[in-house]
Amino acid sequence: MAETEGGGARIDGTEVAKRVRGEVRRRVAGVADRVRPGLATVLVGDDAASAVYVRNKRKACAEVGIESIHTELPATTAQATLLAKVDELNARDDVHGILVQLPLPEGLDEKEVIDRLSPEKDVDGLTPVSQGRLLAGTAGLRPCTPLGVMRLIDETGVDPTGKRAVVVGRSLLVGKPVGLLLLERHATVTYCHSRTADLEAEVASADILVAAIGRPKAIPGSWIKPGAVVIDVGINRTDDGLVGDVDYESARLRAAHITPVPGGVGPMTIAMLLSNTVEAALASVRG
Ligand code: GUN
Repeated sequence: MAETEGGGARIDGTEVAKRVRGEVRRRVAGVADRVRPGLATVLVGDDAASAVYVRNKRKACAEVGIESIHTELPATTAQATLLAKVDELNARDDVHGILVQLPLPEGLDEKEVIDRLSPEKDVDGLTPVSQGRLLAGTAGLRPCTPLGVMRLIDETGVDPTGKRAVVVGRSLLVGKPVGLLLLERHATVTYCHSRTADLEAEVASADILVAAIGRPKAIPGSWIKPGAVVIDVGINRTDDGLVGDVDYESARLRAAHITPVPGGVGPMTIAMLLSNTVEAALASVRG
């Protein structure tokens, strides 16, 4: 992982994700006499990007020995039909995780569909019940990208306990849950967002910085505290290709550890989805 040509160590998310997938594969093999983990994917409509994402998830399942149960529905699917499909998957014993690929086509009520998922099968960690469990600190499935962020921080060997962690972004999918996971690990957490009065000062105070705002290179390297751990969740398409929320080239001169974009947080999301599916399967046989 440690590559230091004149800057901080690059955290290689591709390599860590590969390692996590290897761990999952060994766990799947280890529990084979008790349960065969199964992940149901539901793809509604014909969005090309969504189709690619779902294909990648199914391929990743196959590689680690997770059964992939796939449903494709037309964009014209009625809300009631989709809800009935979720009910059916909720009831199936061979399905331990359910992933309804988002966004859903126009006309479908995403929130109602997500709310219908059994929290025990909510491997995306998106249901209000999963979010409540995270807030309460009780057992439950946590969202995949935030789990990936935590795993990358752990890979650096930096213990969040007592550290100043600054999360830039407050989305339900990433920012909010990452802050809660850092709090659970005893960091002193600050949330920043578009109304934050002095973002530079907040960022400059961060021992651990998580950037999840979706604005290309919004955080210049000169703001980074020397020695910080920088996790960049941003994936922004620009004329220069994919870039993160942090200006990587200048930030890596100050950070001790930093994730690149691409090849940082991105590959972790599917790896943690596989891990969540095995957790859900094991919880189902534990009863
Ligand atoms: N669409 C883009 N990312 C995700 C994800 O993590 N989960 C689901 N269900 N849909 C997505």
